[in-house]
Amino acid sequence: MKQTNNNTSHFSRLRRTRMNATLRSMVRETELSKNDFIYPLFVVPGTKFKKPVSSMPGVFQMSVDEIVRECVDVKSLGIPAVILFGIPEHKDEVGSGAYDENGIVQRAVKAIKKEVPELCIITDVCLCEYTSHGHCGIVRCDEIVNDDSIELLAKEALTHAQAGADMVAPSDMFDGRVKAIRQILDANGFQNLPIMSYAAKYASGFYGPFREAAESTPQFGDRRSHQMDPANSNEALREVQADIEEGADIVMVKPALPYLDIIRRVKDRFQMPTAAYNVSGEYSMVKAAAQLGWIDEQRVMLEMLTGIKRAGADMILTYFAKDAAKLL
Ligand code: PBG
Repeated sequence: MKQTNNNTSHFSRLRRTRMNATLRSMVRETELSKNDFIYPLFVVPGTKFKKPVSSMPGVFQMSVDEIVRECVDVKSLGIPAVILFGIPEHKDEVGSGAYDENGIVQRAVKAIKKEVPELCIITDVCLCEYTSHGHCGIVRCDEIVNDDSIELLAKEALTHAQAGADMVAPSDMFDGRVKAIRQILDANGFQNLPIMSYAAKYASGFYGPFREAAESTPQFGDRRSHQMDPANSNEALREVQADIEEGADIVMVKPALPYLDIIRRVKDRFQMPTAAYNVSGEYSMVKAAAQLGWIDEQRVMLEMLTGIKRAGADMILTYFAKDAAKLL
């Protein structure tokens, strides 16, 4: 009688499908694509203006004309979407530049739409770049107030839609803002305009370089009274659920790398189109280590982006979009 061999290594050899590049590509479970990327852009007043953000090599503040040129480039690389952040000429207590129909983002949207109509333009909806104190809403007696702030965010979203934005993305983390935005959009004929909500956004140290790019560092205090505690996971599901109930079409987890578990839980639980924001600090760390010659930048970048996708993200907001698209 033939003896059974209990040493399973003779039957199962996981290395068999790793022996050459073709086999590896055939069993690959996660495929990163240009189509997954949303490229963040920072638009500032002026013309022919392009200023490097020192803490984010390869990222610039750009005037509208430069942004339009950049968008032509982004589209030709096969990246389907951009997200716009605006830095206004004047900041005030109530962030009026944010909901000015002739504001910086509104002007940029119109100009891009004219030149590159097929590019999906998402606008970040928040007040922090527009307020003199750098907070995401109105401040009264040292408190960042919720309900009056969401009225302003709704107005901001409407002016973005009227300018021609394809999608709005509220990033403030106040309660009820998705509903307020959905209502004002619907009441003004924008029933079909999707909302991508920054649904589980954490109070994170990884936003440091962004605040240089967007000139949005809070002048006092921090964002812990509205953004999430990094220690919480169940609460992220409640945040996401609330936004879905209020009408969010795409839900976002932010940052990405320290929160891959959250991306996975959100995807499994809700099965919604899920975005992850590979934020400024995640980008800058890679760029800095690469400049020091400590890591292989391209390899680490693709590994990070693949990891975010493997965790469950359908789309990735990333400053690496152009670099990665060139390699894919
Ligand atoms: C707020 C906003 C922030 C980011 C995107 N939208 C900063 C913040 O909450 O302080 C951070 C993005 C990044 O770090 O890349 N408008």
